[in-house]
Amino acid sequence: MTSTDTLGGARGTAGPARPGDLAEPRDLAADLLTPEARQDPYPFYARMRSGSPVHRSADGVWYLTRHADVEAALSDLRLSNDRDRMTRACVALGGDLKALSRLTDRLGRVMSNTDPPDHARLRKLANRAFTARRVEALRDGIQRIVDQLIDRAVQAGPTTDLIEAVAAPLPMSVACELFGIPPEDRPQVKSWFSRFGRLSEDIDKSEEAIGQYEEYLAGLIRHRRADPGDDLISALVATQAQDDRLTDSELLSTCFVLITAGDETTANLIGNGTLALLRHPDQLARLRADPGLIRTAVEELARYDTPTQAIVRVVAQDLEIGGRTLREGELVYLFLGATNRDPERFADPDRLDLTRPGNRHLSFGNGPHFCLGGPLARLQTEVAVGTLVRRLPELRLADGAPLEWRPNPLQRRLSALPVTY
Ligand code: HEM
Repeated sequence: MTSTDTLGGARGTAGPARPGDLAEPRDLAADLLTPEARQDPYPFYARMRSGSPVHRSADGVWYLTRHADVEAALSDLRLSNDRDRMTRACVALGGDLKALSRLTDRLGRVMSNTDPPDHARLRKLANRAFTARRVEALRDGIQRIVDQLIDRAVQAGPTTDLIEAVAAPLPMSVACELFGIPPEDRPQVKSWFSRFGRLSEDIDKSEEAIGQYEEYLAGLIRHRRADPGDDLISALVATQAQDDRLTDSELLSTCFVLITAGDETTANLIGNGTLALLRHPDQLARLRADPGLIRTAVEELARYDTPTQAIVRVVAQDLEIGGRTLREGELVYLFLGATNRDPERFADPDRLDLTRPGNRHLSFGNGPHFCLGGPLARLQTEVAVGTLVRRLPELRLADGAPLEWRPNPLQRRLSALPVTY
């Protein structure tokens, strides 16, 4: 979860730079918004890691790109997730971030936008309901959904967009199962989700969709309170009843975050991961020959082309990183995508190796806010990628148009992944 989906500090005026171009002065952060970086940000990260690993952009936002710095930052309580601090910092920057902060502000107190002690309390309550057993119980259902999506794609023709056919609909369908959203409501929920996915493109429409979705969720919570079922909302309602410290508004925000946090991120892991395999036929052949590799393969796919490229923090207390002083109130982007290719941490980091040992990537974060839904995201990716590889032996990239990436440097997402089988 990030509080914003645009880069605050990357609005400099510097033109595109070649990754190896070390000419200074220039705002390295601005390079991340260029079309070249959208296609492949990793050479730009390499340049930042070696040239300016703790980088202050033209408008005062910090960019951290080294594994060691980001790993430490993720556990450093002087770097805050607090919603109000974040809103103040975004408003101070103005522009897109000011508008986006309206959305952050709308969301109530929830684990992703709080610091201790509230964070631990909210997270514990969600943890109690969102158990490993509940996730594992979804395996057969996920397999059924994946098989249906692949059947439909194969029937539709020899070429398909794998994002639209499998990667995007899967997490949404799984979330609906998990939360017990009635089948007749799913098209409406899906349309709200697709509007959240375009947050930075149309803030007003997104805000309207968020309001309608919150109202819908509030109704669902009332219904489950009166008539509990076997779903995650009923489990969260039961948790609230056991522990009177969870307010109604916190319950609503927790449901909101749990349903939305895994939607785009999981789709990105499945899409980027499948693309990485298709571009590395030797690794794809390895996985075909030994499907038991799928677990370590998913970890490597998450490292190699990181779905959530960066997350944001706000400085709560001055601190030093890499010899630079970060001041209270300043925003900090932690570039997980850059850390996952750091040669100080990973041998031969630009190589895809499905059996990579000691793969301590940061794709799901680290420290107190590490991803609560990691096991669910991994399970969906294992089943989706494993099934595509098993069922479609001729799967390959469709010839023709170059691949397009969405213009969001914080979430790495293909606009489409055309494949044939
Ligand atoms: C591939 C898919 C996913 C990726 C790459 C991902 C990534 C992340 C990252 C990097 C964080 C840390 C954010 C921070 O430190 O500020 C995070 C937190 C979180 N994720 Fe995920 N996530 C994924 C899927 C999911 C799913 C499926 C769910 C829920 C069903 C989920 C729920 C959450 C929640 C609730 C948090 C906030 C935890 C906290 O603040 O304590 N995520 N995720």
